[in-house]
Amino acid sequence: MQEIRFIPKAYTSSVEDGSFTWTSPSNIALVKYWGKKEHQIPENPSVSFTLDNCKTTTILSFSKKEKQDNFSFDVFLDGDKKDDFKPKIETFFKRIEVYLPFLKNYHFKIETSNTFPHSSGIASSASGMSALAMCLMSLEKLLIESDVAMSTDENTINDGFFIQKASFLARLGSGSACRSLEGDLVVWGKHHEIEGSSDLFGVKYPFEVHENFKNYRDTILLVDKGEKQVSSSVGHNLMYGHPFAQERFKQAHKNLSSLINVFKEGDLDTFIEIVESEALTLHAMMMTSMPYFILMKPNTLEIINKIWSFRQTTNSKVCFTLDAGANVHVLYPESESEQVCEFIKNELVAFCQKGQYINDKIGFGAKQL
Ligand code: PMV
Repeated sequence: MQEIRFIPKAYTSSVEDGSFTWTSPSNIALVKYWGKKEHQIPENPSVSFTLDNCKTTTILSFSKKEKQDNFSFDVFLDGDKKDDFKPKIETFFKRIEVYLPFLKNYHFKIETSNTFPHSSGIASSASGMSALAMCLMSLEKLLIESDVAMSTDENTINDGFFIQKASFLARLGSGSACRSLEGDLVVWGKHHEIEGSSDLFGVKYPFEVHENFKNYRDTILLVDKGEKQVSSSVGHNLMYGHPFAQERFKQAHKNLSSLINVFKEGDLDTFIEIVESEALTLHAMMMTSMPYFILMKPNTLEIINKIWSFRQTTNSKVCFTLDAGANVHVLYPESESEQVCEFIKNELVAFCQKGQYINDKIGFGAKQL
């Protein structure tokens, strides 16, 4: 069991109080994670672009408490107390307690804010859970390393382990969160051609990536800003006993294999084919599960059709992908940004709720502030 690596030895130092601040981005999957086994183990590998603008900043303040009988924390979003966020964090703490045995020793104040509107339909769980995981790792590092007398190689947390364990923890909060920590392209889930890939944490995509993908753009069109119609956990569960599940999982492996060459050669035509097919397959899985859902809205389809005809008439390499919702991520190379931004303004914004969209591009992961 590889997980054992993440269980720390007894802490030798004691820290009374303090705070850490991390900012962590959202990510957009190119090959989608949809379906999981127990303990947030993905049914198939996935790969994502890390975003740059859509971020969560979390300040974790901690103070030692007398009794260690329960988890004690308060959560704030933009300064407002959010008791409705507590059950999700309580579940997260329960899942990770064995890996962070200090959790019941402290009272935590978790202050979080997003750079994107909370009810925009942009999932804040990836950026939120990864920022929180980084804050918790900073505290663990302090607990392990502040005892100078005990300082040995064994008692230090190196950067590689820090990120890997943070990704491991973030995964237990929200699967895709483990792809938000480090690197512009991140793989999560064991894939036979990607050495070092793991079901337990995300890893930086290890192979050559062509210039064409540098500063790749993602404009997120906010088609429907309502609460998610299907929560991710309900969604993943729909893959249990799904008639097409096994074929879908195989397809994800195959698509990730094909992307290795696409990234190397800068083959944007094949990139478009794989990315759009992945998005539509994700939605096809939802439409063919029991119960079934349609998460696209009429405007989602309007946008997709506009993108297809724009591509046909201009030879542009713009394409789309979707999350488990109605919003559309418009992906395009940096070299086309002027032309595609014009197209978005002139032809796509009309299909967004209140004309809202967010310009983003590939970023590089979490940062301590
Ligand atoms: O991390 P979760 O459990 O919210 O699942 C995310 C699933 C998708 O966003 C639809 C796909 C993905 O790989 O990010």
